[in-house]
Amino acid sequence: MVNFPSLNRRSGEPARIGVFDSGVGGLTVLKELYRQLPDESILYFGDTARLPYGDRSPAEILQFVREILTWMEEEGVKMVIMACNTSSALALEIVQSEFSFPILGLILPAARAAVKGGCRIGVIATPSTAASNAYQQAILEVDSTAQVWQAGCPEFVPLVEQNRIYDPYTRSVASEYLAPLIDQKIDTLIYGCTHYPHLAPVIQAILPEGVNLVDPSVHLAAATARELDLMGLRSDVSALSTQFYVSGNPRQFSQRSAQWLGYAPKVDKIRLPELQPRRSTYFESVD
Ligand code: DGL
Repeated sequence: MVNFPSLNRRSGEPARIGVFDSGVGGLTVLKELYRQLPDESILYFGDTARLPYGDRSPAEILQFVREILTWMEEEGVKMVIMACNTSSALALEIVQSEFSFPILGLILPAARAAVKGGCRIGVIATPSTAASNAYQQAILEVDSTAQVWQAGCPEFVPLVEQNRIYDPYTRSVASEYLAPLIDQKIDTLIYGCTHYPHLAPVIQAILPEGVNLVDPSVHLAAATARELDLMGLRSDVSALSTQFYVSGNPRQFSQRSAQWLGYAPKVDKIRLPELQPRRSTYFESVD
């Protein structure tokens, strides 16, 4: 039995939960963690220098994720949440067996929630997540009678990161991406990328009434609470604090985050450990 730290070895403070994404998408998960787990301290990392992740190869994503997890391990986290669907789709299963702390992703909690609400399920996601079929597989594992349509939406992440949410161009791109799903008369739509709930006002205005929207962050936060309880890792002191780190421009990230967090956080830049890429037979057929 592995003992996970409830205290950070270096600081003696309660151990933190590591949360990462390529950029501001993970803030949708962070806000949900604040709502459901208000006593947890968080170490947030945005890999902004390498954003967007959504058109990277599976091998690149795996390499990035290993670097991030190695850094978070050095920081003494008690658990890591992949606040990134692309990483959850392409790397979660592999890295879960490589690190000693629990690592949670978005796909399974979202798939379970989606089948409760409907049986004609649309998924909007990054091109890499859509191509991986991870959502379709997870949904069909939970309910083999469900029907799933996935749409890759390459322009959404850059539009969110450039803060062009209310730009008329964003609305026309969103109409284009959603049209094939609306044609299939979906009853449920999953935000299969953590950047997309930032586009909710635009997406909701296009969808026909009655389509059930699934935001995976809500279900991931609930799964995190269960996992913390199960492992006896839930913080019992009111220690809410978040430290933000990025690989790119900290000031830019802080400015962009302000509208989602309600304040401009202090953000520092870090250099991730350089790891030698490992040969992985897992991806030989896809690379
Ligand atoms: N927000 C991430 C996701 O959920 C990554 C998006 C990107 O960088 O393309 O997939």
